[in-house]
Amino acid sequence: MTDIIARIDDVTVSYGEKIILKHCSMDVVEGAITCIIGLSGAGKSTIVRLLMGLQRPSSGHVYLGTRDLCHSPEHELDEIRSKIGMSFQFAALLDSLSVGENVALPLRENTHMHDDDIRKTVTDALESVGLAHTYDNLPSELSGGMLKRAGFARAIVTKPDLVLYDEPTTGLDPIVTHLITDTIVNLRRKLNGTAVVISHDLHSIFMMADYVAMLFEGAIIAYGSVAEIQASPNPIVQQFLGGSEVGPIPI
Ligand SMILES: Nc1ncnc2c1ncn2[C@@H]1O[C@H](COP(=O)(O)OP(=O)(O)O)[C@@H](O)[C@H]1O
Ligand SMILES: [Mg+2]
Repeated sequence: MTDIIARIDDVTVSYGEKIILKHCSMDVVEGAITCIIGLSGAGKSTIVRLLMGLQRPSSGHVYLGTRDLCHSPEHELDEIRSKIGMSFQFAALLDSLSVGENVALPLRENTHMHDDDIRKTVTDALESVGLAHTYDNLPSELSGGMLKRAGFARAIVTKPDLVLYDEPTTGLDPIVTHLITDTIVNLRRKLNGTAVVISHDLHSIFMMADYVAMLFEGAIIAYGSVAEIQASPNPIVQQFLGGSEVGPIPI
């Protein structure tokens, strides 16, 4: 029996005439890593914003546990969001704060913890991404991959039930990509939690995904295990996986 921690149910999102997602449904299985793949502009980040309650759909429902985010008042959304960790695609740490103080921000905003406990919790979070030694560094002293991992530490410092990663490896070299992918897998194990990862990077998806959803022109056209996606008879899925310019995907 698999438990569902979040559910997108028949969701349509449109901006005026422009339809971004059309009748999308998707389950996020508890304890699993679900990867969402698709071309740029397919609507992947929109799904992340829906799951965070940062955006409401034009129609349909988004559930976190049994709560319908579309009908939750803003103060309840704040509480729901405090149980979700988010690693944004272009998240930056604040330049003026140390790495440790950046990671501490969600604790200072959402808890009444004392400074000693905060320091210990932040050190644990940094250690789980291999950055315990950077607590007192400034963000400008870290490399791109280290900054990403510091962002992960900030996303998981409150021990959220669900962690959302928007394009965690985009723009990183293959070695750092490998390290980041390992970090996501280790964090999931350590938190005993659930992750949704948006990525274009097929190699890293195949390393970490329990489930893969492929989004194309606003619809989820394939969903399943890595093996099931690889065996998909859908020519759009096969063209995406093969990276071929020949096929049904308009270029
Ligand atoms: N506020 C907005 N107004 C109009 N169009 C938007 C807005 N936000 C996103 N879009 C459009 O929605 C589509 C999906 O965006 P997004 O979810 O960011 O895609 P992805 O993350 O897959 O690249 C894109 O075509 C984008 O231009
Ligand atoms: Mg995006």
